[in-house]
Parts: sequence; C-alpha cells; structure tokens
Amino acid sequence: MKRTDYCGLIDRRYLGQTVTLAGWVHRRRDHGGVIFIDLRDREGLVQVVCDPDRAETFATAETLRNEFCIQVTGLVRPRPEGTTNASLVSGEVEVLAHTIAVLNASATPPFQLDDENLSETVRLTHRVLDLRRPQMQQNLKLRYKTAMAARRFLDDEGFVDIETPILYKSTPEGAREFLVPSRIHHGQFYALPQSPQLFKQMLMMAGFDRYYQIVKCFRDEDLRADRQPEFTQIDIETSFLDELEIRGIMERLVLAMFRDALGVELPNPFPIMKYADAMRDYGSDKPDLRVPLKLTELTDLMKTVDFKVFRGAADLPNGRVAALRVPGGGTLTRKEIDDYTTFVAIYGAKGLAYIKVNDVTKVSEEGLQSPIVKFLPEPVLREILARTGAANGDLIFFGADREKVVNDALGALRAKVGHDRGFATKEWKPLWVVDFPMFEYDDESKTWAARHHPFTAPKDGDEEKFESDPAHAIAKAYDVVLNGWEIGGGSVRIHRPEIQAKVFASLKISPEDQQRKFGFLLESLKYGAPPHGGIAFGLDRIVTLMCGAESIRDVIAFPKTQRGQDLLIDTPTPVTEQQLRDLHIRVRASDAAAKPA
Ligand code: AMO
Ligand code: AMP
Repeated sequence: MKRTDYCGLIDRRYLGQTVTLAGWVHRRRDHGGVIFIDLRDREGLVQVVCDPDRAETFATAETLRNEFCIQVTGLVRPRPEGTTNASLVSGEVEVLAHTIAVLNASATPPFQLDDENLSETVRLTHRVLDLRRPQMQQNLKLRYKTAMAARRFLDDEGFVDIETPILYKSTPEGAREFLVPSRIHHGQFYALPQSPQLFKQMLMMAGFDRYYQIVKCFRDEDLRADRQPEFTQIDIETSFLDELEIRGIMERLVLAMFRDALGVELPNPFPIMKYADAMRDYGSDKPDLRVPLKLTELTDLMKTVDFKVFRGAADLPNGRVAALRVPGGGTLTRKEIDDYTTFVAIYGAKGLAYIKVNDVTKVSEEGLQSPIVKFLPEPVLREILARTGAANGDLIFFGADREKVVNDALGALRAKVGHDRGFATKEWKPLWVVDFPMFEYDDESKTWAARHHPFTAPKDGDEEKFESDPAHAIAKAYDVVLNGWEIGGGSVRIHRPEIQAKVFASLKISPEDQQRKFGFLLESLKYGAPPHGGIAFGLDRIVTLMCGAESIRDVIAFPKTQRGQDLLIDTPTPVTEQQLRDLHIRVRASDAAAKPA
C-alpha cells in the first residue's frame, strides 16, 4: 500500500480515481452514522468520509483521535451540493474511505492545532506540533523557496558557494560573541562568527571573484522581534565592481527573491536616500516609507526662544528640536497623547510637547490648544505652522533633546502614529540607504566606533578626513530597507593595507592589537588584494516580511526565546563536572544556575 498523492492536492481532476493518502487526523466529526475525517499533510487538508457499510473501516474510524497518523485508500467523488468549501484546493471533492490503517496513534495533543491564541511559550515548548500547523508549514516552505531563488540567481550570476569556519576567533568588535572553549589548548577559546566578513574578503584576495553562502551567524545580543542569537545571512562578496555596480546586482537579487518565491514585483528601481536625509526626515536609518509622514526641522528656530525645554536642546552641540505633524490629529484624546508620551519615553524622551491646531488664523492660546503655546512668541508659532504645513484639525508633536534621542523617539512615533491612524499604505516599500558615516561616537565609552564595520572603505576623497574629522567622513556603505526593516547591509571594503591600518588607528586599536586580532587580514592585504565589496541579507527578516509574520521566530523551525532558550530541547543546560574539567573550566559558584544531574 503505497501513498499515491498528497491530501491537500486532491481536486476535481481526481474524480473517479482511487487514491492512497497518508497524513494526520486534523479533526474527526461523527454525523449521525457517517464519520468525516479532515486528513492533513504538508500540502493541506482533504475530507475523508467513512460509511457504516464498510464495517471494519468504520470501526477503525471510530477509534481515530486528533493527530493520529493514518493511511487511507479510497475513491475520490464530488462533495454533495451545498457542502463544498471554496477555501480548500480539495474543497469540491471528498475521499470515500475503502480502507484505513492506523500508522501510529497519538496522545491527546496539549492544544488544538487551529487555536489562534496560543502563547509563544506553549508553541515553542511543543514546537513539533506547532510546526504541523498549516501556517508554519507555509512559512518554512516560503523560506525554502526564497533561499532557492537566491541560490538560482547567484548561481546564474557566477557566484560560488564556499563554506567558511564556524569555529572562529574572538575579535571583540560589534556585538558580544559566543565563545567555545578549546580542550586541546588550555585556557584558549574559539568564537562563533558574527558573520563570515573577513573570510569572504580573504576569498576575494584568494581570487574567487564572486562568493556567496547562506550561512548561520551568531551574536550574543539582547533579543527582539527581529533578532535571534543565531540567524541566517545570505552573505555575498564580489571583486572589481564599484558601489553602484554591486548595488545593482543586489537589487536584482532582492527583486528575484520576491518574484520567484512570492510572485511579487517590487518597485524597480529602489529609491535611494542618503543617511543624513533619512535621519532628518524620518529620524531613522530604516524608515517605513509606507507611512508618508515626515519630521520638520526646528532646531535653528528654537535657538531664539526662551522656553527652556526647546532652547536648551537647540543649544546643545548635538541637540535637535523637531516636529511631527499628525493630519487630523486634533481628535487624539488626552489618554492617547499620554500613551504616546509613555511610548517615546522608551527611547529616552523626557516629554512629548504638542499643539492642537484648532484655528490657524488665531496664532495664540485661542486657536492653538497646548501646554507650551504660552512659552512661544507669535512669530515662532507662525513659523512652526508654516514649516509643518499644519491645517485646522491637525496636531503637532515636538521632540527636543540630544539628536539621537529626538530621532529615536520621533522616528518611532512617526511609524507608530502612522500605523495607528491608518496613514500606512498596503504596499512594498523598499529603499537603499547610502552614504552612512564611517564612524559613530559612543557617548558611554567616549570613543569612535565603526558605524558598519572597520573594513568599510571611505568615500573617494574622504580617505584623509577620517583622521582629521571623523564625524564627517562618509563610507561606501549601504543598507536595504523594506517596510521599516533593515533587511541587508554591506559596503565596499578597504583593499589597501595602509588605509586599513589607518582606520584601525582612528578606532584607537593599537598596532599590537591590530596584529593580534587582524594580523591575518593585514598580511593578506599585502599581496595585491583586489578592490572588492559585498553585502549580507537577513534571510529570516526577509521571509518574516514575506509571510506578514510578527516575529522572525515564526520563520525559523527551532528558534530561541527572548531569553535565548530553546524550550523544546531545553537548552542551555549545565554540563557535568567531567566535561568542564576536560575543558579546563571552573564555573564560578555564585554564577552557576544549577548543578547538573
Ligand atoms: P550586518 O551586521 O548589517 O552586516 O548584518 C546583515 C543583515 O543580517 C541581518 N541581521 C540579523 N537578523 C536576525 N537576527 C540578528 N541578530 C541579526 N543581525 C543582523 C539584518 C542585517 O541587515 N558582514 C556584514 C555584511 C557585509 O558588510 O557584507 C554584516 O554582518 O537583516
Ligand atoms: P514641562 O515644562 O516639563 O512641564 O514641559 C512642558 C511640555 O513640554 C510638556 O507637554 C512636556 O511633555 C513637554 N516636554 C518636556 N520635555 C520635553 C522634551 N525633551 N521634548 C519634547 N517635549 C518635552
């Protein structure tokens, strides 16, 4: 008895045929003498009918429960009129069961597979059952199709898939690393790669010309809806192309993935926005362009007022005052405004001043309802109305603080208000963000850090600037943004050893540290390294967007929770004293979560 077909694909074309199907009992319904079974496999559902005429088959059907694994042979026939189901491929037919074999019984599942309100803890603890749900089957199939589309495209373009080591070396830059103790080398460690960045550059130096890899990367960072400690990159590098040429190929790759996997034609070409413009207009380097609202610059204007909250911020060397006009926002209630104030506080905003514009012709407390209008002179109020383009019935929010706080707070508020108030369009809005700064200043450590990574080339002409004026040096770095998510980022790399050493020096990495951590790179750069550059896409994020899922956990078969645990296999766990001894490791008593069994 061999399976002939998938359940979910049985349709009118099979009428009159005898088929053998295998799958899981999704539901069993007893209807006055007739038993209906919704049989499910990876392609979907089909209705199986068991008639009391076949006593043995009927008796078996009576014993079936949800999630029993069974095999059914039967005749495909039309469903009686009025009982068809247009939402199923198999909705016009049913299978009259001749024989049913129970391949395996099932314990009562801890939840109904079609329960929409399961907690993530329940889902991840019972991930195998969770993955049986049609939505999860679709998500993972779409992930596969997307990866295949990428492979086909890259293969056609002459890119070669080359594997790189997972046991890498600790080079603490960027995110925190996962360490792996060496047994053979007492007290020494490997690190898991945050990305294959330097290996792919060295493959270019080795002459492979075009490389790609769909590869796991590891970052021990705080987790969010769009972050996992191990995630997958479509990692790409190419030689002898400039920034525009690289972006051109990568854009075609994104178009191909959406076309082949999802049947979606993305807008082409992607709009291009400079980093500085994105920050000015959207307060974000990954603006969600489905929301048309923009920020309005007010810093210059507020240098003239007495109102301390605004003047103080405007006078800061890295301060900013900006506004967000919400069309029709005059209807926002006190409570809604308070909730938005709480929301921006997450980003460090100390308040959220606002003006409700009741009558633009009365530029005073008469026409403008607001806790701050009394602090601002009339010409300034007029200028605010003019710059924001406010009309009667609008509301204007204000942010005043260090630039970073204002951008983070108003940038997030822009997207949130836009979605809450129905301004967001239902489109795909891809975007290149380019001309990133080379460096960013870390207020805590009071040092400059590489904005992308320290292997990124400066713009032509900015080679000297990064020493004299690091704040204004621009990099040949670019991100791909889609609907407010950064789905990929890359750059043209430094291919000359002296420039690389200078950038390390600007980052205050001492010559000894440069040698110890990156000596292999500096050495490889010496022997005629070609100009090269590339990008890495976040596959998990791309597929999450394609699926319309809320979290990347919904497109990863076995993800970690927000606390970095896998609830299915239960990890991390303590290990035995002997294992630790072999690795020359002693766990500090106070840090040990639990003793191993
Ligand atoms: P970057 O750090 O920007 O660049 O990473 C590239 C893309 O990977 C995705 N991503 C993540 N996805 C899920 N969980 C995470 N924790 C996570 N971190 C990053 C994002 C991001 O755009 N070596 C460089 C690339 C290059 O220069 O070629 C790099 O890793 O979608
Ligand atoms: P205060 O003078 O602190 O009572 O603030 C007056 C108004 O300005 C209130 O509506 C506050 O929410 C708002 N506010 C205070 N600090 C800021 C800030 N840094 N940015 C924007 N609005 C602020």
